[in-house]
This record gives sequence, structure tokens and C-alpha cells, in this order.
Amino acid sequence: MRFQRVKGTRDILPLEALARRELEQLVFSRLSRSGFQPIHTPTFEKFELYQRSTGESSDIVIKEMYRFQDMGGRDLALRPEGTPSVMRAILENHIKLPVRLWYSMSMFRQDKPQKGRYREHTQIGAEIVGEAEPEADAELIKLGFDLFSEIGIDGMYMELNSIGCRECRPTYQVKLVNFLKKHSSEMCEECRVRMERNPLRVFDCKVASCQDILKSAPSQRDHLCKECKEHFDKVKKGISAFNIPYQENDRLVRGLDYYSRTVIEFKSTSLGAQDAVCGGGRYDYLAEEMGGPHIPGTGFAFGVERALLASKGEGIFTYEQPTIALLILPLGSDATSFALDLVFKLRKAGLEALVEFRSGGLSRMLKRAASRNARKVLIVGEDEMASGVFILRDMKSGEQRELSFEELIESQDADSS
Ligand code: HAM
Repeated sequence: MRFQRVKGTRDILPLEALARRELEQLVFSRLSRSGFQPIHTPTFEKFELYQRSTGESSDIVIKEMYRFQDMGGRDLALRPEGTPSVMRAILENHIKLPVRLWYSMSMFRQDKPQKGRYREHTQIGAEIVGEAEPEADAELIKLGFDLFSEIGIDGMYMELNSIGCRECRPTYQVKLVNFLKKHSSEMCEECRVRMERNPLRVFDCKVASCQDILKSAPSQRDHLCKECKEHFDKVKKGISAFNIPYQENDRLVRGLDYYSRTVIEFKSTSLGAQDAVCGGGRYDYLAEEMGGPHIPGTGFAFGVERALLASKGEGIFTYEQPTIALLILPLGSDATSFALDLVFKLRKAGLEALVEFRSGGLSRMLKRAASRNARKVLIVGEDEMASGVFILRDMKSGEQRELSFEELIESQDADSS
């Protein structure tokens, strides 16, 4: 075959597609009970939106964006994450605040593909916009924790940190840069660039020697201003009241530029290198960065692929090969059009049914029905059309019964309940 999928993309085949649909329905039901409304934003936006919000110094913008020019010469980008476009939609459509929004959307990042990391992936996100209170963060964390417990994320744990605000972060950054400068000759090339562009990002470095040096780096936690400290204490108090286990990690900074105060990650020990199932935090300055008013916000998003990978085994979204509840086997061409009419009547009555179009003798058709995983077949020949009484055969037991249309509906209803 001449064509293959583009590197880093995936075909989501029916079994996984069913699991994803079920996952989405679960999230929809849990989040709508908590006041979240669905939103969809465009798959592509102006590149500048992400440059200004996700951040000029973020890996996403520097290395991973699918940036392109359309025929009108516009500088565009495929959506790498949902939060900036949701905030843009709020501002542009004058959505009344506070508001709770959730989405399930494809994201595009040109990162090196590996297990759990794809160039197109789906995120389900939840955003509370217009609330600055720490209780909003605690509620969101509780919602995430309950969801991931229900999904059955293997070896789940949560990390929490506060990265301060406009008041206290600059002072801390000066201290951090002073520390880094002392060690700059021992640090990797990338960390030296981070030091200039966005010093907090050094904590994302995976190089062992840099990690060693960073163990003795000053901690943001010791430099939070009074307001940030109080905010963080209240978030922790809220989470503890819900009995949610967490690890405070003062090196958790997150790879996007808009965060302030609370940052979180839910991780799974079963995922290997790409262990983050969900990331999020507070973004109180994001709206201003986009040229809007001051609008606080907090949210999280999780990767659907990673959530499913981490829930395999004990997850609730495992599917058997799909089956056909009822396959009608018409014997002869007149019977096919009769069967087609019948199948729509059955479907109208709420049943799941299909017609086998390929003709043949009964035994051949029964073989085909078995290979198509039909649970039951309905045999429709000339006699059945004349009498209105059909033969229903259970494919597993081989048991056969004669039924009228009404009896058929009743019996199938009882089977599916
Ligand atoms: P993020 O941590 O960049 O945060 O992405 C959220 C989640 O998406 C990750 O925890 C991971 O499960 C999944 N993910 C990210 N990149 C990939 C990839 N290349 N392949 C597969 N899965 C991936 C955000 O995007 C923020 N917008 C989250 C947020 C919402 N913060 C506040 N509100």
C-alpha cells in the first residue's frame, strides 16, 4: 500500500473508539453534575495566541507547534493545548463569569513520538474561569481525583506545588538565577538557555548532572508572599479535608508559561517515561496576557490516550470484539427487500439489527453469521414472509424459536435489558 499514517498519529480502531466514547460519557456526566458546560474551539488559531499565552519560552511554542501559513498569508497554528483558545473564546464571546467549561479536543504537538506521546492526541479538559479562590482549585482536584479513581488509573499519585505570583516570583527568580549562574559551567546547554529565558523551567531538565545540582537550588515554596502562602495552605487544607493523598513537589513547575500559584499533575507509575496523565493549575494572568481584563482561572486537562493506557487491565473501558445483536438472514432476493423493511421497523422499536446482504444457502449464511459475531439470527424465507412468523436462532446454543414481529420485539427487549 502506498499510504501510511503520518509519523506520530494513530488510527483509533473501533474497540478503542468505543472505550473513548464511554470515557467521554463518564466525564460528561460527572462534570455536568458539577456545573460544567461543553465548549469546542477551532482546531487552528492565530499562532500569536499560543505564542503569547502558552509562552514564548515554552518547549511547545519553540519546538512543537504545527505552525503554517494559509493561502492568505496568515500565520496560523494547529491547537497544541486547550486553555488559551478557551480563554480567547470567553473574551471574544463575552461569556458571563464565573463559568465552568469542559472540552474534549484534538491537540497537535510535533514532539518525538513514543509510547504515550503522539503528534495528535486528545485532551479532556475542565476550566473554572472567574474564580480566584483556593476552594476552586481544591474542588477541581477532587473532581480529577474522583474521575481518575473511577477510570482506574494504575498506580496513580498526585503532585502539587505553588509557583507564586507576580509579586513573589521575581524575587525568587533572582535568587534562582544567582544560584544557577554559580553552577552554569556544570549545567547542560539547554539549561543555560532556560536560565536566560525562563529560569523556573530548569526544573524540567532530565539530565542527571543538572538534577543533582538542582537538589540544592532555592525553593519557590520558601519564597511565597503572604497571600500566595495563604492561598496554597487553603488549597492543601481543602484537599486534605477530602482525604486526597498528594505529594508536595517544590520542583513541579509545568511546561507552560501562564501558570501562577497552584500547579498540579496526576501521574501513573504504569506509564514509563510519559508518566503524566493530567496536568493543570491556576492561570490568573492569562486573560491579561491576551490583552483582556484581569480574570482568574484554574483548570486541568488529561490525555485520553494516556488515561486509557494507564487504565488497561483494571480499567472499566475494556471491550470484547463487538457483536451483532440480531442478524437477519434473507433467503432469496425478495426476502432481502422484505428484510430491509423489517430491519428498520425493528430499529424503530429500539433494537439493534442488521441484514446480511450476501446471498447463499442457509448453512453458508449461518457460517457467515458466526464469523460476524452475530448473537442471534432471524431467518426470513418465503414461508416466513407469507405467515409473518420468523425463526429466531440463538447462535451460541443453536436453539430455535418461531416468533411473530411483536413477539420478536418483546423477546429482544427482554434480552437487552
Ligand atoms: P499539558 O500538561 O501540556 O497541559 O497536557 C495535559 C495532558 O495531555 C498531559 O498530562 C498528557 O496526559 C497529555 N499530553 C500532552 N502532550 C501529549 C502528547 N504529545 N501525546 C499524548 N498525550 C499528551 C495542558 O495542555 C494544559 N492546557 C492543561 C490545563 C488546563 N491547565 C489548565 N487548564
